[in-house]
Amino acid sequence: MQIAKISEHIGAEVTGIDLSQPLDEATQQQLYRALVDNIALVIRDQHFTPQQFLAATRLFGESMQDEDAKYRMPDLPFVGTVDSMRKNKDGSRVYNGERWHSDHTNQEFPPKFTTLYAVELPDNGGATNLASSKAGFESLPEDFRKRIDGMQTVNVIVGSAARSKNSDRKKWQQEGTRKPVIQPLVRTNPDTGGKAIYFHPNKVENIVGMTPEDTQDLLDELVGYVVRPAFTYVHKWRRGDMLIWDNRSALHKAEFDYDPAQRRLLYRCLVKGERPQ
Ligand SMILES: [Fe+2]
Repeated sequence: MQIAKISEHIGAEVTGIDLSQPLDEATQQQLYRALVDNIALVIRDQHFTPQQFLAATRLFGESMQDEDAKYRMPDLPFVGTVDSMRKNKDGSRVYNGERWHSDHTNQEFPPKFTTLYAVELPDNGGATNLASSKAGFESLPEDFRKRIDGMQTVNVIVGSAARSKNSDRKKWQQEGTRKPVIQPLVRTNPDTGGKAIYFHPNKVENIVGMTPEDTQDLLDELVGYVVRPAFTYVHKWRRGDMLIWDNRSALHKAEFDYDPAQRRLLYRCLVKGERPQ
């Protein structure tokens, strides 16, 4: 197995390993360490059934189901699908994950890792973008860092001021009756000790003490610090890629720059995390 850094702040490429075969404990630990140290891994040339992809995900921890049943595979609920053929009720395109975010921040125990595996890809475009929210946090001016460290976000299904393009967002807001979950805006990754900016802009109703609109403005401002070329990795998909990242140290977003008539289908699995602190 070879592990090669992609850039200083985020990403490493893993080759020469087949995760559908049994792994020894030392290799498994080496992969885990490489993931938390590099924030994201691209594991090349895998040939997975959904079951094998789930088993590969479980090498990194306990898997969890997507909270929304419509994304789960009916016969294998721990594997989700990200499918561009899914539409809003009015037939319009679904823009899930089009803004920089961390996954499922509205859950008390959000996933620490998200994994994707490419099944069907458009001819061009459709990349997954990752940015180090740890490097982003560390790059903030000191007074700004002090101001946001300690802030808390109130997380719901879809925030009332969310700047989402999905036409179904109003419907999701009405369905989202679950108790809001409070998360730190700056969290510490227990595996590395590093602090990072942590949020999902569409799931934040507000930062405690701020209006929803002012909150969205502040989150947009933070994205400006995180999304710099040096802190960002654009993953252009190849068949056989398994991508895994650490939601505790990264924000990510999907590109919608491809022909909507072409299908982009990925399997997605989640690894359960601890309570963010
Ligand atoms: Fe996501």
